[in-house]
Amino acid sequence: MTGEKRGVNAKWAGPVPVALEPTAHEGAPILVIGSGIAGLTFALKVAEEAPVLVVTKKSRADSNTNWARGGIAAGLGPDDDPELHLADTLSAGDGLCHRDRVELLVREGPDRVRELVEWGVRFHRENGDLSLGREGGHSRRRIVRAGDRTGREIERALLAAVEAHPRIQVVQHLLVVDLLVGPGVNGGRRCRGVVALDEQRGVRVRIPAPLVFLATGGGGQVYRHTTNPTIATGDGVAMAYRAGAQVANLEFVQFHPTALYPTEDPAFLISEALRGEGAVLRRLDGSLLMEGADPWGSLASRDVVARAIHHELQRSGDTHVLLDVSTMTPAIMEARFPGAMAGCRAQGINPFNGGIPVVPAAHYLCGGVVTDEDGRTNLQGLLAAGEAAHTGVHGANRLASNSLLEAVVFSNRAARAVLTDPERTQARTEPGVSFSPVQVPQEPVNRAEQVRVAHVRSRLRSIMWEDVGIVRSDEGLERAARRVKELTEVEEGRWPHLPWSVEGVELRNLLQLSHLIVTSARLRKESRGLHFNVDHPERDQGRFSEDTFLEPAPHSLSAF
Ligand code: SIN
Repeated sequence: MTGEKRGVNAKWAGPVPVALEPTAHEGAPILVIGSGIAGLTFALKVAEEAPVLVVTKKSRADSNTNWARGGIAAGLGPDDDPELHLADTLSAGDGLCHRDRVELLVREGPDRVRELVEWGVRFHRENGDLSLGREGGHSRRRIVRAGDRTGREIERALLAAVEAHPRIQVVQHLLVVDLLVGPGVNGGRRCRGVVALDEQRGVRVRIPAPLVFLATGGGGQVYRHTTNPTIATGDGVAMAYRAGAQVANLEFVQFHPTALYPTEDPAFLISEALRGEGAVLRRLDGSLLMEGADPWGSLASRDVVARAIHHELQRSGDTHVLLDVSTMTPAIMEARFPGAMAGCRAQGINPFNGGIPVVPAAHYLCGGVVTDEDGRTNLQGLLAAGEAAHTGVHGANRLASNSLLEAVVFSNRAARAVLTDPERTQARTEPGVSFSPVQVPQEPVNRAEQVRVAHVRSRLRSIMWEDVGIVRSDEGLERAARRVKELTEVEEGRWPHLPWSVEGVELRNLLQLSHLIVTSARLRKESRGLHFNVDHPERDQGRFSEDTFLEPAPHSLSAF
């Protein structure tokens, strides 16, 4: 896990075409890793012509998507258009968005939202039209939503469509451990499938595939406090990096300003949409937190609001700030934000009695596996989309509710690229998927080892929270780098001798991702977007106006 750096501003050589030449695994299904919005929409599209196997490490509905509350941004309103959405996205991204990719996002977004409706997603409507909410950094109402449980509704509809599809098979409780990579065409490297742990049958499996689509979501679990579910362990980014894929911009971790306090694991997210409806942040003494701090007030972009809360907690010694929802009536809150109301009730909080106690929590990974405009990575046969990918649309700070949009737009583009690839030959089997992995015996995992792994995971999350959080320093980053390296070295020594367990594999990925985040953060010696370093408080447009690429560190998978 050395992760030698190539350095900030280094240029990416560009993707290698998918080039699906016939291989030994002719007839194997296209493999999709992850059952969130990116994986399922890609599966539905490519299944028009090819058999697809979707694997997920937990049950089919366990995905980051399911936890997404706010909604999906699209310039659909009468006073809106893609140009305004483009401008807001570029502004949030603080100089690092790839304009050409954002143009694809905002132009293709509205059609993708309509397609979700065709797949059965029931978005909130008013007088027959999609009802549009507002969130931080958006100059218009453009958030299409289903209450404040949008992700759950999208996941429900997509799973129903996938389950009804004769060419898609979903296998649950199958944890992909590593990508299998071998020689490709034109001197390149090619992904040829995966090795995985079949948790329920207790066996290791090798799954050959002509094409692997990585849609594993994010890695918020590297932090002590996160809105991400416990499955969000950065598996896709970590395994792709180990296999030789290029990653970028991993220093840009978005902290959501309003997680319910006290935080649980995962933290309960109070949607930014409440602030879109007029809720405001207050200090415990009742004064307005964001007044004078930003022209957008409580609706400033997330990096600004999360930092303001962080500074307030440092200054005052308070444990939280308050979200004042008194601009809404209880009836409106119940109708519009049933999730927030239920979350508060579960903790005995009445939002109308002094406000909702909130703190920031790690929320979203803006960087990831580098892809081109059609999801291709630098490894032949490996595509990626969703939070695991770096398409270039988020820059240094993701605009609220652009993530589900990015997932559908770029999954759709990836699927189209696969379906129109003239080299695609091996995925033309008959409907009905045959899944016959090679099995390797797997030792049972002992309880003491599970406890030890849980302990290391907990230590890692504290290290990342304390030194690689909302506000960073050179000294803190150096300390975190050292501590992550020490933990990693111990685990690397043990890894080959241990039976595989979900906990062990996740820890390996969390360590890998932490290393990548810390390394990227140490390379960027400026403050920009989500990356704020007190020792380099200024933005440095000269030296740091490009992405932070890390050199791939492929390792041998001969042990498998
Ligand atoms: C929220 O509802 O505040 C979260 C939406 C997002 O992360 O884009």
